[in-house]
Amino acid sequence: MTAGIIDGKQVAAQVQEEVAREVAALKEKGLTPGLAVVLVGDDPASQVYTANKERTARELGMHSVLHRLPATSTQDEVAELVMQLNRDPAIHGILVQSPLPKGLDMDAIIRLIDPLKDVDGFHPENVGRLWTGQDGLVPCTPAGVMRLLDAYGVDPKGKHAVVVGRSNIVGKPMAALLLARHATVTICHSRTPDLPETCRRADILVAAVGKLQMITAEYIKPGAVVIDVGINPVPGFKKRIRGDVDFDSAAQVAGLITPVPGGVGPMTIA
Ligand code: GUN
Repeated sequence: MTAGIIDGKQVAAQVQEEVAREVAALKEKGLTPGLAVVLVGDDPASQVYTANKERTARELGMHSVLHRLPATSTQDEVAELVMQLNRDPAIHGILVQSPLPKGLDMDAIIRLIDPLKDVDGFHPENVGRLWTGQDGLVPCTPAGVMRLLDAYGVDPKGKHAVVVGRSNIVGKPMAALLLARHATVTICHSRTPDLPETCRRADILVAAVGKLQMITAEYIKPGAVVIDVGINPVPGFKKRIRGDVDFDSAAQVAGLITPVPGGVGPMTIA
């Protein structure tokens, strides 16, 4: 059997169309949504992500600003910028790109962001809202995964979902969103014994570990839905990226699978 492919580019394009329409409707009412993206330092991947976020927001009709601070910035300097953006009536969303350079405390910066402007959903107020079933802002990558599942008619209700990876950005909020949709959720990580066996019990398997092609066919139940959140460089190739899932072997066993690139990636910014 060969798995069906989940086309993230196509679903992301739909999301962007919706966002553009919603932005236009707000502008008609005299309100231009404003996004501020904050990049501290010059991490190459973060430069690409933040530039894409700023550009996409602008292309969809928003007011969009990228603030670049040097890697030598102090905690107070970053904090001062965040507080200024909290007060700025033209800014409705604030994204501080993670990771911050060594020596800066990301958790402290996140706590300073107005929870109502915390479009990453990283503030403890929004994290608490997610886990307690209250409306709030939700991290974009797991939100994008839920949107992909919906687009392909995959209802998590009553299914066993296994999330590999427990980061605050993906693994934990992913588990919360699947739980809220009535999946039975298992979170696995580097200390989980018998990882392949646990993964093989998944109807929905989400890989978010950051290890190139670690999840092979032996981790996958025949017919399972496999979602690959990994974005890993391939050693020896300048521009090639691959996921946490070994696509070629996994696609022989899975029922539906996201490719990398072209799966979850395009959904995150959308
Ligand atoms: N670094 C990796 N992913 C993300 C994200 O979704 N938001 C922010 N702010 N930083 C990130």
